[in-house]
Amino acid sequence: MKIKIIISLLLIVLTGTSFLYDGPPKPTYLKLTIPRGWPKPGNNIFANNPLTEEGFQLGKKLFYDGRLSKDGNIPCASCHQQFAAFSTYDHDFSHGFNNSFTKRNAPPLFNLAWMKELHWDGAINHIEVQPLAPMTAKNEMAETIENVLKKLNTDTSYKRMFKAAFGNASINSQRMLRALAQFTGSIQSYNSKYDKVKRGEATFTMSEEQGYTIFKASCNACHTEPLFTDNKFRNNGLDVNKSLLDSGRMAITGNTADSLKFKVPSLRNLYLTSPYMHDGRMITLQQVLEHYRSGINISQSTLDTLLKKRIAISEREEVDLLAFLYTLTDKDMSTNKRYAEVVTYKIHEGPH
Ligand code: HEC
Ligand code: HEC
Repeated sequence: MKIKIIISLLLIVLTGTSFLYDGPPKPTYLKLTIPRGWPKPGNNIFANNPLTEEGFQLGKKLFYDGRLSKDGNIPCASCHQQFAAFSTYDHDFSHGFNNSFTKRNAPPLFNLAWMKELHWDGAINHIEVQPLAPMTAKNEMAETIENVLKKLNTDTSYKRMFKAAFGNASINSQRMLRALAQFTGSIQSYNSKYDKVKRGEATFTMSEEQGYTIFKASCNACHTEPLFTDNKFRNNGLDVNKSLLDSGRMAITGNTADSLKFKVPSLRNLYLTSPYMHDGRMITLQQVLEHYRSGINISQSTLDTLLKKRIAISEREEVDLLAFLYTLTDKDMSTNKRYAEVVTYKIHEGPH
């Protein structure tokens, strides 16, 4: 009799937890892919925000939801369009609330886990707080966080998704920001032809190969492989935009040595992200190369020392360099359904 009781007790102890567990289903944990040969991300953006499938899906829904903006029309995705590698297609500045415009060109969003500072001037140092800037900016989404949370709270599908991602249905700003970070931080680009060549799955044409050699000699010091940025702030000699007078990094540090320095952008997916530069002043890559060849303003005191002599690029080299840059296009990312909006169709009930 005693033995029976002891055995039953043991059974309850050993198996009981799974029988008695009455909480929400456990989320599915995910891991960020670190492609072979890449550096480890400098800071672990998911250290306090464990990446899960449920968090990712919630973040994606938020990213595409106009209710995060004041008039309902300006979701994150209106300025960060997937087919444009999550930049704004064909616009120097993006449309914000009430026919206003942003003051800088919307950067593409990918491989953000490798980025220590966000925005062209590094104004933001963590991906979790980043969305507060566009959500509350008058010329972007123009909404208050309080209002957004109110709107989300009226939607039962959000309650369900917050519960699946975070254990209970409470909707608060930290969770919203964390979910957004899980989505944007998971957008990765490592399947361009360049990457396939590096993995031995494809080969460069002669022209691409020659372009790669020119790239390594002239561009790689700043647009460093494999991310195609060194994540530093530098002045590449653009004339000051007279209508914006954007001093770049100096506005953040207050240091005159940082005047006109901007974050070196990644060159991945360039063919999807025209126009170029922090103010979108250049439409074609030919214009960009012309800048490095002859346009660099060498009178600026903070001009990067690497560019003091400008960069000699012959017509022939230009063709090859452009061919190489084209191999950085990653359609796997820009057309990946995993990052795309989930469209739910409403069924019309009879004639209206
Ligand atoms: C009205 C257009 C607009 C909307 C809406 C918008 N963004 Fe942006 N986004 C921009 C611009 C412009 C920048 C560059 C800002 C700067 O450098 O000062 C930017 C920068 C970023 C960056 C930094 C990227 C980098 O390379 O440094 C992230 C991340 C980002 N946005 C995510 C979001 C998220 C998430 C939302 C929705 C909550 C959002 N954005 C809504 C235009 C927009
Ligand atoms: C000294 C560092 C440096 C070197 C060398 C350099 N760049 Fe840049 N590049 C920058 C910086 C900084 C920016 C951003 C400038 C801005 O917007 O104010 C930039 C911007 C660009 C852009 C615009 C990207 C975008 O998304 O808007 C392209 C394209 C580009 N560079 C291509 C090249 C090529 C090709 C070479 C080699 C021929 C090269 N760069 C050499 C620092 C450099």
